[in-house]
Amino acid sequence: MRIGILGAGRMADALGTQWVRAGHELTLSGRDPVKVAALAERLGPAARAGTWTEAATAGEVVLLAIRDHAALDVLEAAGAAGGTLRGRVLIDCTNPVVPERFTLATEDGPSMAERVAATAVGARVVKAFNLCHEDVWRMTPPVFHGTPLAVPLCGDDDDALATTRSLVEDLGCVAVEGGGLERAGLLEATAAFMIGLWFRGADAQAVLPPLEFAFGRP
Ligand SMILES: NC(=O)c1ccc[n+]([C@@H]2O[C@H](COP(=O)([O-])OP(=O)(O)OC[C@H]3O[C@@H](n4cnc5c(N)ncnc54)[C@H](OP(=O)(O)O)[C@@H]3O)[C@@H](O)[C@H]2O)c1
Repeated sequence: MRIGILGAGRMADALGTQWVRAGHELTLSGRDPVKVAALAERLGPAARAGTWTEAATAGEVVLLAIRDHAALDVLEAAGAAGGTLRGRVLIDCTNPVVPERFTLATEDGPSMAERVAATAVGARVVKAFNLCHEDVWRMTPPVFHGTPLAVPLCGDDDDALATTRSLVEDLGCVAVEGGGLERAGLLEATAAFMIGLWFRGADAQAVLPPLEFAFGRP
């Protein structure tokens, strides 16, 4: 699969490394061409450096891996309002989390994923990969206590969800249907809440019961 990545930071590196390993071809982009070229070189011959627009139009899938405050501007720079992402799967891993408060920068309006969808005309947006630290996404595979990491997906397009599911499975994870894009804000809020717990030293995974207790005593 050909994958464009908007961003050349930590998430671009972590997920890009995994997807190159799985046999995909990448076009990377970022605001600093030197950094983009260095990442492309590190990822090897299956990765090339490009402009925002080249990454947006490189293939059927585009990963948006930009800091939340700049994500919509980058989409604009990639020509998203003019339709460069039309029909493509746009995976949004951004977390609009306010540092130290662990609230949402988007709490006065639509979720980040919905803003991404509104900006990227015609793109098939899927929220994914936002719940775990980059180092988890670098694991080969991310398996804890014998159980592969589950990755919730939110999106409205079945084919886009299936494509994203296969990219999740490339990491050795399992995808979990999280519902439509209207629920992506819940995933963003989950990230904010869990990150807040982690920063207070709490084990966020321990706050929920196992499935058999979810609806009461088994
Ligand atoms: N890192 C994680 O563990 C993690 C986990 C889950 C989700 N996320 C989310 O994934 C997204 C990417 O995270 P990251 O850790 O990869 O971030 P990052 O390394 O700090 O930066 C990602 C990209 O954003 C670019 N960027 C930052 N400010 C910009 C601006 N004003 N204009 C244009 N580009 C700008 C960076 O450019 P420069 O390199 O030139 O600064 C870089 O290419 C974020 O929304 C984050 O919330 C991160």
